[in-house]
Amino acid sequence: QSFFKPIQKTSPPSPTKRHTKISVIGAGNVGMAITQTVLTQGLADELALVDANPDKPRGEMLDLQHAAAFLPRTTILASVDYSVTSGSDLCIVTAGARQNPGESRLNLLQRNVALYEKIVPQIVKYSPETILMIVSNPVDVLTYIAWKLSGFPSNRVIGSGTNLDSSRFRFLIADHLDVNAQDVQAYIVGEHGDSSVALWSSISVGGVPVLSFLERQQIVYEKETLEKIHKQVVESAYEVISLKGYTSWAIGYSVASLARAILRGQRSIHPVSVLAKGFYDIGGDVFLSLPAQLGRSGVLGVANVHLTDEEAQKLRDSAKTILEVQSKLGI
Ligand code: NAI
Ligand code: LAC
Repeated sequence: QSFFKPIQKTSPPSPTKRHTKISVIGAGNVGMAITQTVLTQGLADELALVDANPDKPRGEMLDLQHAAAFLPRTTILASVDYSVTSGSDLCIVTAGARQNPGESRLNLLQRNVALYEKIVPQIVKYSPETILMIVSNPVDVLTYIAWKLSGFPSNRVIGSGTNLDSSRFRFLIADHLDVNAQDVQAYIVGEHGDSSVALWSSISVGGVPVLSFLERQQIVYEKETLEKIHKQVVESAYEVISLKGYTSWAIGYSVASLARAILRGQRSIHPVSVLAKGFYDIGGDVFLSLPAQLGRSGVLGVANVHLTDEEAQKLRDSAKTILEVQSKLGI
């Protein structure tokens, strides 16, 4: 006898009614920032936490269960055993070493590739149909590694990429123009890192391309101001890491927005790390960020955004940087 007396006989949900499950691998600063945002936004019916350290995910699970009265109902699981991730719709991988102050993301490569060689087969074993969202750094190379190790079609292997850089870019532009960041559209593409590319032509404020917006507002368009803003984006992570030791909140909201786009089938466009081979004359199997349409089956397509010759060349240079690093891996 259940606690509530049904007022009418209800039929079971239709077979197409989905029970949505997200797994987060790596219950550290980033994994938990993502988890907290996913729970707050009610993006999943079930959320599994996996970490190499058994106490961490269990402690986080209990702590979050104690917040259940304030959150949309979500079943939270935790284990070192990947069977807890079974049947996940989306697996978000944040496990791995993070940068020390002043260290580049690419420096983390060897350590994190070794982890992925253990983690990815476990994820695939229990969720062969899942979508992989890679966050650990260097995220573009690790997304390529996850694609190779998983054997998944490329539409189901996505890196968080420059979605975070673009949100930093939007904040700084909004701050400069004294407008709401949600009214600023702007893309940073390429490597999530030092060789990222700001697409000036993509910037719009309230739907108005920024260059004409600046002219209309008689705000003197200084190319160096925009270049300075992009430089601030590239330096953002280093600054935050030097102050608090890591970055977490922005990536938490950034990845949760990608999870929503995918799991709610939004068909919205986000700058994320995708297999870029064949776009803008990029050769080689390289993942880097391009404006991609995301939905329930992962990457639905890549937006054919106009790039100036200079922007396209910078993108190819970014791809070259990543391919050079990848070629040393022999994978
Ligand atoms: P953290 O050290 O707080 O958490 C890492 C977690 O991974 C730890 O709990 C650790 O126990 C776990 N772990 C280590 N080896 C594991 C294994 N084999 N299996 C499962 N779990 C394992 O580090 P944080 O700050 O959460 O950063 C994690 C990663 O995310 C780093 O690589 C960092 O660079 C990256 N990151 C990426 C961003 C992006 O925009 N793509 C933004 C911020 C961080
Ligand atoms: C960031 C680093 C940690 O952009 O990838 O926050």
